[in-house]
Amino acid sequence: MELPSIADLKITDKRVLLRADFDVPLIVKEEQVLVADDTRLRQVLKTVNWLIKKKSKLIIMAHLGRPGGKRVAALSLRPVARAFSKLLPAKIKWSFSPFVLGKKAEKKAAGLKPGEILILENLRFYPEEEKNTRSFAGSLAGLADVFVNEAFAVSHREHSSIVGVPQFLPAALGFNFLKEARILGQTFKNPRRPVVVVLGGRKKSKAVAGQILLGWADAILVGGELVELNGIVELATHHKVKANLTKNGEDITPDSAQEFAQIIKGAGTVIWSGPMGAYETPCYRKGTAVVARAIVDSRAFSIIGGGDTEAALTKLGLVDKVDYVCSGGGAMLDFLAQRGTLPGIEAIRGRKNRNAEI
Ligand code: 3PG
Repeated sequence: MELPSIADLKITDKRVLLRADFDVPLIVKEEQVLVADDTRLRQVLKTVNWLIKKKSKLIIMAHLGRPGGKRVAALSLRPVARAFSKLLPAKIKWSFSPFVLGKKAEKKAAGLKPGEILILENLRFYPEEEKNTRSFAGSLAGLADVFVNEAFAVSHREHSSIVGVPQFLPAALGFNFLKEARILGQTFKNPRRPVVVVLGGRKKSKAVAGQILLGWADAILVGGELVELNGIVELATHHKVKANLTKNGEDITPDSAQEFAQIIKGAGTVIWSGPMGAYETPCYRKGTAVVARAIVDSRAFSIIGGGDTEAALTKLGLVDKVDYVCSGGGAMLDFLAQRGTLPGIEAIRGRKNRNAEI
């Protein structure tokens, strides 16, 4: 599948609106808000450095957490912007706009010089972002000449900044996005079988993708809080295994962990999103540890996806032992469930021919 690539866009001297995924974990240290894990910031760097080198004027938009369409001080992107700026070459001039829309934001975007960066405040402070209103998307698009999506992990969401903006601007996908789509696309089309999908964590939307993936995977193993969702139990088939939870519900039982490990041992491909329990607390990390160990000891091609899964494997010292770490859990599952695409890709693909005009 040929995807619209940033490399094919004409961007020199243009204002480029870049959708990034800056949804990173934060910690407060000595009254300072710091980024606890900057993996997602680093994933955008190749595209950002390339755009800067091409002398584009860069406007970065992103979200942080789920503020519900309101300004929530603790979810401001300002500290994230600061952390991101430290990863850039020292000479790059950057600034932050506390507003996404309005005269001040427009003025800042219009005043950018080639090679400069403007980072906008959390998109989800505006309810229109998640509602995907045409006017909000149009206003965002009005800040720039070209759109680049480098936010694979949020491209399963039909939000303004993902599917709305490319209706207005020439658009393409960033380098990291293209890499994610290539690796997952190859795995979807030509997986080493049997394919085992392991689902856990709390995000309910994963259950929907899990149901669809029943038609593709050879086994689906369900742990974590997902076990307690209706749907996921009722539609169980012969190749779906649901874990039993410990009495307090904070982990899967040792028997379930062993059962999962046994199935994983014979897998050709393992795809995992969502820890088996409350892994942040060491005593509830046992199920996750057994599953993780089974994956890295198996001969399977292994892909993990999502911040929590990556954090859990990092705590276990095993993250470097999996074959591929995808930036998004929900997006990864939806990409597979939608047979190798996402709303964020389709929105840009619909524009492909029009890009030729610029
Ligand atoms: C993520 O953290 O998985 C992405 O940023 C998407 O976030 P969301 O589930 O809040 O849409």
